[in-house]
Amino acid sequence: MQCTRKIEEDLYWIGSEKRNYSLFENILPIHGVSYNSYLLLDEKTVLLDTVDHSVSKQFLENLEYKLDGEKIDYLIVNHMEPDHSSVIEEVILRYPDVKIIGNMQTAKMLKQFFDFDVDSKMQIVKDGEILSTGKHNLKFVFAPMVHWPEVMFTYDETSKILFSADAFGTFGALNGNLFNDDLDFEKTYLNKARRYYANIVGKYGMQVQNALKKLEGTEINKICPLHGPIWRNNLSYILEKYEKWSKYEPEDNSVVIIYSSVYGNTENVANVLANKLSQKEIKNIKVYDASNTDVSILVSESFRCSNIAIISTTYNMEVFPKIAEYIDHIRRMNLQNRTISIIENATWAPGISKSIKDQISQMKNMKILEETLSIKSSIKYEQEEKLNKIVEDIATDLK
Ligand SMILES: Cc1cc2nc3c(=O)[nH]c(=O)nc-3n(C[C@H](O)[C@H](O)[C@H](O)COP(=O)(O)O)c2cc1C
Ligand SMILES: [Fe+2]
Ligand SMILES: [Fe+2]
Repeated sequence: MQCTRKIEEDLYWIGSEKRNYSLFENILPIHGVSYNSYLLLDEKTVLLDTVDHSVSKQFLENLEYKLDGEKIDYLIVNHMEPDHSSVIEEVILRYPDVKIIGNMQTAKMLKQFFDFDVDSKMQIVKDGEILSTGKHNLKFVFAPMVHWPEVMFTYDETSKILFSADAFGTFGALNGNLFNDDLDFEKTYLNKARRYYANIVGKYGMQVQNALKKLEGTEINKICPLHGPIWRNNLSYILEKYEKWSKYEPEDNSVVIIYSSVYGNTENVANVLANKLSQKEIKNIKVYDASNTDVSILVSESFRCSNIAIISTTYNMEVFPKIAEYIDHIRRMNLQNRTISIIENATWAPGISKSIKDQISQMKNMKILEETLSIKSSIKYEQEEKLNKIVEDIATDLK
């Protein structure tokens, strides 16, 4: 059965969603996601992006239902990643008169992914170009690397709606409630939205900044992203989050403690550290065992917090693999402006603090607190003073 939703008089959500999907991009664990597609029924009919092939049955049914016998005049391709573009060929087969709207990069990728005659189907647009579809004037705002190189936003100048591609999206299937004001975003989606941002576009903060700058002064009434709820009020909430995340500014003055431990002795140090930090009135501390936490959560929490304590066991003369994986991921995601504390555990010989320090030092604007602690198998009472110093230093840094 069709499953669509009216957004405005002539605009409809015709996307679909799935929950039986464990790995987004075959790497990020999730419990569901939505693929949003939009249909504008102006004098010309305009389809904005499609969906992942796995949910195409629902999407094609929605499309046919809302078109009600009409043809599609334009298909705007804001993003070529296959979770939004893999149904394009099927759409062309069903609606052969459709003109595809995209940029030069879009055309190149269409040719790479598909075998149909792209040139004869395409209308190439330039940055800032406007397409009139009757009542609506659609402006294309290029947003390169706000996930992929070809990404563009479509801004409807008539209804002041921004179709933002992957930007402002989130993991998580919809629960019927399509609009942000129908649900408690902070409670239901914020952690998912942060993990989505940090692990998908986190690396491209500067490009996100460029896109946000291009939108400065533009009146926006609604944001229609390709995943998750549509924003129709309190837009400043999500815009401010993007402002922070893209500048690599922490959201919380708090500490995330990320540790590895084979036999529990290093875990004990992590627990003691958290306990002591809490007694310094530090709120929202989180402690994660890197071995049983997906690295995408560790990355997301590192985007949230101003301070990170890395507590690693030494493993065959190297940093414990899960901690090494975590450090590699925050490096890949270009994380900056954080204060790091380092504690090592080594039983055989000197440990891996230096190696961690060297890796963190190569990242931008990372402050490494001087006081470190080297545990030999288990922490001893005489080391408590050093641990207290680490706690003091973190508390001072947070002020
Ligand atoms: C497989 C394995 C390899 C280890 N390799 C080293 C090493 O190269 N150098 C070292 O000083 N300690 C090494 N350790 C000891 C750990 O770094 C750590 O001191 C020990 O596991 C106690 O901490 P835990 O109770 O938190 O696991 C190793 C431990 C294991 C299980
Ligand atoms: Fe994408
Ligand atoms: Fe996407």
